[in-house]
Amino acid sequence: MVARNEIIVCGAEVADAEILTEKCKRAFDSDSDVGAPGPGGPPGYDSMEWNSHAIKNAYLQYYKVVSGNDIVGGFIAGDRGPGYQVCERIWIDPNHMRKGIGQKVFELVWGQYPSADLWVLDTPEWNLRTKPFYEKVGFVQIGTTHHLPQWSQRYYEKRISAGFPKAMSKIGNLHNDQKLVIVEGRVDRIASPRTVSSRKTGEQLKVAEAVLTDDTSSIGLVLWNDQIRQVEEGSRIRIENGYVKEFRDELQLGVGEWGLIITLL
Ligand SMILES: CC(C)(COP(=O)(O)OP(=O)(O)OC[C@H]1O[C@@H](n2cnc3c(N)ncnc32)[C@H](O)[C@@H]1OP(=O)(O)O)[C@@H](O)C(=O)NCCC(=O)NCCS
Repeated sequence: MVARNEIIVCGAEVADAEILTEKCKRAFDSDSDVGAPGPGGPPGYDSMEWNSHAIKNAYLQYYKVVSGNDIVGGFIAGDRGPGYQVCERIWIDPNHMRKGIGQKVFELVWGQYPSADLWVLDTPEWNLRTKPFYEKVGFVQIGTTHHLPQWSQRYYEKRISAGFPKAMSKIGNLHNDQKLVIVEGRVDRIASPRTVSSRKTGEQLKVAEAVLTDDTSSIGLVLWNDQIRQVEEGSRIRIENGYVKEFRDELQLGVGEWGLIITLL
């Protein structure tokens, strides 16, 4: 047993899914007190099936937070590249909130990733609680994402080591068939969107070509459908989970279905 005033973080098991789901639902539903339009949470937050899958998912590290005999919260970590860690989710049971547990959980989880260069996460713009919380823990807002239809998300980063992160690339170093690309640059221009038919399904798709430039080079950035509204000419963006393809003898950067576009501040 863990002493009542001690907090530990350890790998969750499928047998923990029910209690983790219950706590997760209660924690996120309480967001209606801190700016949420109503009860709700991220996809699957109230589903035992989703949480069981996440515990088994080899690409995620799902931790339970234990105090005394109780599970009092959870933390889901992931990685988007070497040393580029993401806090996918953190929640603390409402009965245990505001006792320093969330802060302690971050310290304990960070201890498990000695080679991390940085941690990132995003959180809804309306959330009055996560802003002071993440800032207290040492995160700095560096941008905004617009991938959700309902609201924008604040995008936070905490640098663990100084220097250029090993998971990130400069545009001048990109090469054909590169995947899981993380790159930053300025959007120099965006052409008007065109409508094209998908070669596979015949479906009508919108595509807009832009140019992304950093201090080393420029590359064509291809934006599809909903990605087009997320990017403004003249802004600086970071792309996570991008890919590079050669097209008509030139390298092009795409964002991909699981990719993320961050508008930097
Ligand atoms: C966000 C969350 C994880 C914080 O956990 P917690 O254990 O209550 O946080 P802590 O007690 O460690 O708080 C540390 C600091 O965060 C800030 N903070 C936490 N809750 C706050 C609140 N309700 N209002 C204002 N600031 C708050 C404070 O600066 C606090 O320090 P202080 O108590 O000395 O003033 C918890 O509120 C939660 O589970 N929320 C619902 C789920 C969620 O939104 N998760 C994050 C999105 S993925």
